[in-house]
Amino acid sequence: MAESAGLAESWSHWLKRVDHCLENFLPKKLSDQAALPEAMRYVTLGSGKRFRAALVYATGHSLGAPTGQMDIAACSVELIHAFSLIHDDLPAMDDDDFRRGKASCHVAFGEATAILAGDALQSLAFEILADQQGMYTPEKQLLMVKILAQATGAIGMAGGQALDLSITGSESSLETVEKMHKMKTGALIVAAVNLGVLAAGSTDARLLASLECYGKSLGLAFQITDDILDGTTDALTLGKMRDSDKRNHKPTYLTILGEKQGKALARHHVGLAKQALKDLYIDTTTLEALADFVTNRQH
Ligand code: IPE
Ligand code: IPE
Ligand code: MG
Ligand code: MG
Ligand code: MG
Repeated sequence: MAESAGLAESWSHWLKRVDHCLENFLPKKLSDQAALPEAMRYVTLGSGKRFRAALVYATGHSLGAPTGQMDIAACSVELIHAFSLIHDDLPAMDDDDFRRGKASCHVAFGEATAILAGDALQSLAFEILADQQGMYTPEKQLLMVKILAQATGAIGMAGGQALDLSITGSESSLETVEKMHKMKTGALIVAAVNLGVLAAGSTDARLLASLECYGKSLGLAFQITDDILDGTTDALTLGKMRDSDKRNHKPTYLTILGEKQGKALARHHVGLAKQALKDLYIDTTTLEALADFVTNRQH
């Protein structure tokens, strides 16, 4: 990962924390449920950058909250993300056999178990958010559930994935691809920021609006960069198939703009994300470093 020393240190701490919490939340292997718990653990544990968890922690920290207050929110976003990756790789979607440096879930466990593992990871995300007695106020807890649900569903990730499938093979406009990216990837990244704010207990409207603006620009930059990495980086570095988008005839920022212009646009959106943090009375150093990470990353 290419990031500042300060961010790298915090990130590795968050990564260990979120992995430890996920380990406890995920079901253990039960003989009467065949491979379902194993498939859930296989996909979720031991890999993944945990960018969305890092966003939850960094946002909460910038608002002065202790790390432990963000664990549940960070895990819930990572569980939804893991679910989205399983379904994204299925033969009916991107048909990718390699994910997070190993065989995709449906390759390792079969399609039926992979679909169920995705379903079960999604419900686990909401279960842990709903279960935290005393950690957040009931009002905040309900709002967190709603934010995560909206980011996951038809107006968020799932809707974006549907749009992705509907324009596959076509010559789409930049406007449509931007909309797709904001939904399929951006929505969950914005949710991570919003959950960080709620976990920290903040209610300052101006702060919320600025941080949401930061999340939106960052989400778009994240998927533009993903498009570029897909066609320019080897599978070993990516931990997933190279040229998946080309093989699937997907319109992307790489196909529409090319590498140079695509990278410049991603940097532009990172600039907008950082701009949204200007003049806030909180310490935004880590959030700025996370923004830079989005376009500097190698995978
Ligand atoms: C990949 O996300 C899928 C997208 C939404 C672009 P990440 O690049 O965060 O994947 P992991 O979590 O590190 O595996
Ligand atoms: C998928 O976008 C976004 C998700 C909601 C999982 P991609 O299909 O480009 O993600 P990767 O490249 O397979 O990780
Ligand atoms: Mg996809
Ligand atoms: Mg994919
Ligand atoms: Mg991709």
